[in-house]
Amino acid sequence: MRSGLALAAGIRGIGALMLERLPGFRDFYPEDCARRDFLFRVWTEAARRHGFRRYDIPTLEPLELFTEKSGPEIVSQLFNFTDKGGREVALRPELTPSLARMVGARVATLKKPVKWFNIAENFRYEKPQEGRLRSHFQLNCDIFGEPGPAADAELIAVCLACLRAFGLGPEDFALRLSDRTLWTLLLEAMGIEGTAAMEVLGIIDKLERTPREETLKRLQPHFGDASEDFLGQFGMLMALHEFGEMADFMRSLAPNAGIREKTETRLGVWRELLDALDAMELSPFIRIDLGIVRGLAYYTGFVFEVFKLAPDGPGYAGRALAGGGRYDHLVSKLGFPPTEAVGFGMGDVTMTQFLEEKKKLPPIIEAPDVFIVAAGEAERRAALGLAGRLRAAGIRTEYALRAPGFGKQFRLAGQCGARLAVVVGTDELAAGNVRLKDLASGGESVVPLSGAPAAVRVALEEGIGSA
Ligand code: HAM
Repeated sequence: MRSGLALAAGIRGIGALMLERLPGFRDFYPEDCARRDFLFRVWTEAARRHGFRRYDIPTLEPLELFTEKSGPEIVSQLFNFTDKGGREVALRPELTPSLARMVGARVATLKKPVKWFNIAENFRYEKPQEGRLRSHFQLNCDIFGEPGPAADAELIAVCLACLRAFGLGPEDFALRLSDRTLWTLLLEAMGIEGTAAMEVLGIIDKLERTPREETLKRLQPHFGDASEDFLGQFGMLMALHEFGEMADFMRSLAPNAGIREKTETRLGVWRELLDALDAMELSPFIRIDLGIVRGLAYYTGFVFEVFKLAPDGPGYAGRALAGGGRYDHLVSKLGFPPTEAVGFGMGDVTMTQFLEEKKKLPPIIEAPDVFIVAAGEAERRAALGLAGRLRAAGIRTEYALRAPGFGKQFRLAGQCGARLAVVVGTDELAAGNVRLKDLASGGESVVPLSGAPAAVRVALEEGIGSA
């Protein structure tokens, strides 16, 4: 196991202490930041196009907010400690409980539905692995104050838009749609309710990543000898992706009139949701899949996860790109008036990998527009003044900090990818001019120093043809 603090005496030869990054955390070099900026910009634009407004929350929260509200899996992954004031605190592993507190605190005055989004860093002490780190960024979109499936449809629409905005389509990914309400009814029909039902849902959530024998062992306390049968039924349910078939299967499992009626009512809500999604032309992205239950404790209704499609087969590949659902009780569990809620989180780790695989990340262009080349010390003052004026005009401008020779400055201009060199030459300056050189075409023009910003702007837009 590598420690975070490594003695690099061998490398440096002087016993210097080299501090390594913590496992599961990332450094973002400028090119990584440029990629991340692109991701966040596309997400932000998609969220705003759907009428979501940005909010933000503290990075550090009272530990209790998560131990009470997020469920056992996240609690086992908390970065928590006692602060200098003796408070038990944790770095946020997710945004949802904090957001529910914010909305709850102003619920009486907020205009409903509340549609808010945020992009923020979360911290989870997970085993670092493919698609899972100890720090990740998440886009969250949430809607509060709307109980009906119209809000679930709107939320799914913005979630899909946050992938489609990169040029990804139904041939690339799918949203697996499920329902905790149907699951609760199903388990109730089998006599499993309350915390036992929550535990079984936790086992189902892990099923795809757990060996069958291990799953059977975990189901044993709840189903005893019937554990195999349960897994068999579950396998059948998971294979039903068509609404009519899924509905018939659910009806067939209802043991009495009470559960039958509740099932029927719920299937009616399903129909409303699927109709709305169809009207939004989103059906090609949706796969009914009751194999999804979500690991977090607070979900109450429709839940979903987004996965990329396996390249060679009908299944899915990798870890979830996004996940969310309805959580109507969280605001009231925090002590505020009951407020319905539905939301999702989409992570940057899996999303960036996906975009790389699909070649949807644009080339990173961070080159300056202009590189100023000064003939010598005497021209340097004018060059510095010009740099200030070009930058004030919004033109990305660079020059050599050390003022090397003329040829070296041109080489630097080429290396940094500038489109234009602005040459502050002795003769030109004496005549009150500068020379613009298009570094791609080699074309040149002489323009007055006083009008340089406007002339540079024209040259950047239209280029300077070679003479
Ligand atoms: P979650 O499923 O835990 O949901 O996370 C949402 C997404 O964040 C995942 O699909 C994944 O892309 C990313 N993610 C989660 N953990 C990690 C990790 N350790 N490393 C890299 N990426 C990760 C939630 O957090 C809910 N609070 C979402 C929500 C908002 N539900 C309602 N509103």
